Amino acid sequence: MFSYVFMKILEMRPRSYDQQMDKISRGRVRAAKEAVAGEVPKGSHVLEIGCGTGELAGLMIQRDATVEGFDLSPSMIQTAKERIETENLSDKFSVSQMGVDGMDRFRDEQFDAIVSTLVFSELSDDERRFALKQAKRILKPGGIIIIADEVVPKTFFRKILHTVIRLPMLAVTYLVSSSSTRPIPDLSGELARAGFSIQKEIRSHGDSFAMTVGIKEKGEK
Ligand SMILES: C[S@@+](CC[C@H](N)C(=O)[O-])C[C@H]1O[C@@H](n2cnc3c(N)ncnc32)[C@H](O)[C@@H]1O
Repeated sequence: MFSYVFMKILEMRPRSYDQQMDKISRGRVRAAKEAVAGEVPKGSHVLEIGCGTGELAGLMIQRDATVEGFDLSPSMIQTAKERIETENLSDKFSVSQMGVDGMDRFRDEQFDAIVSTLVFSELSDDERRFALKQAKRILKPGGIIIIADEVVPKTFFRKILHTVIRLPMLAVTYLVSSSSTRPIPDLSGELARAGFSIQKEIRSHGDSFAMTVGIKEKGEK
């Protein structure tokens, strides 16, 4: 799934982002989003962190969710707004342009579920910590958080292989977009340290991709 390395380049063209990601990942990105949407309980009020063009939101709405999304990128948000308009989603999907540092604006225990795909690998350690702290606060007791992203493989051999294959692609991405992504070293550990109980972690693609599901236990603040 090394195509993730190129996502910073594809993000520069939000209108073709989903199509291109799907193409270079040979359908895996779309499949990952379908898996995330499948974990969201039907009819949930969902917050999507880094919603991009709203593709995942569309899948969750098919399962009767109502979605609030935010994203740092004005052009991604513009493309999501075009989706809302063309697909007539205004009563089901709303978006705002902001970074994770604005998550303190949400009320306590506001959401049934919080989701994010391919965003945490673009955040700094402090941003991830802050986002997870806020996520815990704004989820209802019993609420669910689902994060799918590129992660550091667990075994030494896979770690080395992953780094070696990734390096040249990373260089190209940095040259074109002046930015890069970082696989998350310990996604389930970060969720656990933020106070979530880990329900499951499904690893795939040579152990370099994970979908991690955490629960805010009832009685937790
Ligand atoms: C690779 S794209 C993924 C978009 C979408 N989640 C998807 O899976 O199609 C990463 C997204 O994260 C957003 N992003 C990066 N840093 C962010 C931050 N600090 N706060 C909110 N969004 C951020 C980018 O603008 C971009 O839309």
